[in-house]
Amino acid sequence: MKWMARRAALRALCTGAWMAAALSPAAAQPADMQPSAEKGRQLYGSFCARCHGLNMVTPGSAFFDLRTITADQQERFERSVNQGLRAMPAWGGILKPGDVQSLWLYVMAGR
Ligand code: HEC
Repeated sequence: MKWMARRAALRALCTGAWMAAALSPAAAQPADMQPSAEKGRQLYGSFCARCHGLNMVTPGSAFFDLRTITADQQERFERSVNQGLRAMPAWGGILKPGDVQSLWLYVMAGR
């Protein structure tokens, strides 16, 4: 009889763990939606490198040097990337949700 109670307790524990996993933010987003510096690196290569240079080394002075942006300028970064700035196109309609954060992580990691 004791083993049955133990098994029920175990099952309740498992269900609880499963629900906690399902409710955690990591599980709410599929793995490929999680912003990451690695994803940002790929996005950068596709969308940004042709102006801002490979590995963020600007080919000339016409383009903003992304290596000069500092950790406290995330808001400015996201605004400029989403809405564009003068000669810089707006990316808000092209990038997927989370992509700007991935790019930000890449820019911060690459400095
Ligand atoms: C067509 C060329 C071009 C592409 C592609 C481009 N940029 Fe830019 N970007 C510029 C130029 C030009 C500026 C300088 C704008 C100015 O200050 O007049 C700039 C400026 C910026 C700035 C600084 C904005 C500020 O607040 O001063 C950021 C951040 C930036 N770009 C990020 C990106 C990211 C991230 C991508 C890729 C998604 C990207 N850019 C793609 C041309 C480009």
